[in-house]
Amino acid sequence: MTPPGPFLLTDERGRSHLVAPTVDGTLHTRHGWISHTDIAAAGDGGVVHSSLGMAYLVTTPTMAEQIVRMPRGAAVIYPKDIAVMLMTADITNGNTVVEAGAGSGALTAALLRAVGPSGRVLSAELRPEFAAVARRNVARLCGGVPANWVLTEGDLREVAAGLAPTGSVDAVALDMLAPWECLPAAADLLRAGGHLVVYLATTTQVSRLAETLRLTGHFTEPRVSETLERGWHVVGLAVRPEHRMVGHTGFILHCRRLAPGVVPPPRRARPAKGAYGPDYQGPRALGDPATQTGEAGGADPRGSAGPLGDAGPPGDANPLGDANPLGDANPLGAPYSEERS
Ligand SMILES: C[S@@+](CC[C@H](N)C(=O)[O-])C[C@H]1O[C@@H](n2cnc3c(N)ncnc32)[C@H](O)[C@@H]1O
Repeated sequence: MTPPGPFLLTDERGRSHLVAPTVDGTLHTRHGWISHTDIAAAGDGGVVHSSLGMAYLVTTPTMAEQIVRMPRGAAVIYPKDIAVMLMTADITNGNTVVEAGAGSGALTAALLRAVGPSGRVLSAELRPEFAAVARRNVARLCGGVPANWVLTEGDLREVAAGLAPTGSVDAVALDMLAPWECLPAAADLLRAGGHLVVYLATTTQVSRLAETLRLTGHFTEPRVSETLERGWHVVGLAVRPEHRMVGHTGFILHCRRLAPGVVPPPRRARPAKGAYGPDYQGPRALGDPATQTGEAGGADPRGSAGPLGDAGPPGDANPLGDANPLGDANPLGAPYSEERS
């Protein structure tokens, strides 16, 4: 019989090994070897010794501990950010969530756990090789491929209509290079009040997404945050922050789907003078004087006409289309890569 697992073995210096025990398996470390049978016998919270006498604490790994150690195709979302995404988008038991791209399956597994067996996670992944990695990782993290998970290979923009009926989804979670391209799909899928939560690695992506989704007229004003996690060293009187920390992972943007036909309430705070001035190169509404004359002049181009200016909803007349002045200069339009820069 295959021993239970996986287990995390941590040595006296904090170095750790993730082990999925097999019948005749052996873990080899710099401090000698340990049989998988001994690891399984020590069990969760136990201690096992290597052939050279090093003591290892044995624990059942948390999902977060597995995510940062699992094999990757595309870059995963860090557990601290996944936690914030789940809470921000209020993902709960019974929800239907659409996710793209599935990447390495880290967010997928956490979504599946949050929605529970009565919910559904519908993932899209553009690249078949990453979809295969996601399938393996989700099976590992969830103890098998969950029956309430559908992974569709393809571009979310093309497969969205087949994932769920229009207006039926509680939340859409995006983690990809160009999430603004998927806003029409997200708007179609989400129910009124549904959550859009997006993970973004760079400020240029944040800006382009925020401005683009304002122009759609389908979403509430976006909120953007970053979560910094700093560990602390706590030994006797030596209580201080750790010397090292992960300085940057990503940004999280969140907004809600407005009910169809609803015009978003005007923003209370007017943009700072110059926010859409001559140096601003991002998306602009059609009818924006700056778009038509090339003069921005520092005035709020959306002015008293409301946050969307003259822009209507996206579609064929989508003002984001060719009018997007980011064009070739957009660093995000660089050769396709899902590596975080
Ligand atoms: C950074 S990875 C996602 C990682 C994932 N969130 C995780 O935690 O493991 C981004 C993924 O999005 C996929 N992707 C990019 N654009 C897409 C689109 N329009 N539709 C579906 N998947 C897309 C890429 O192929 C890539 O695998």
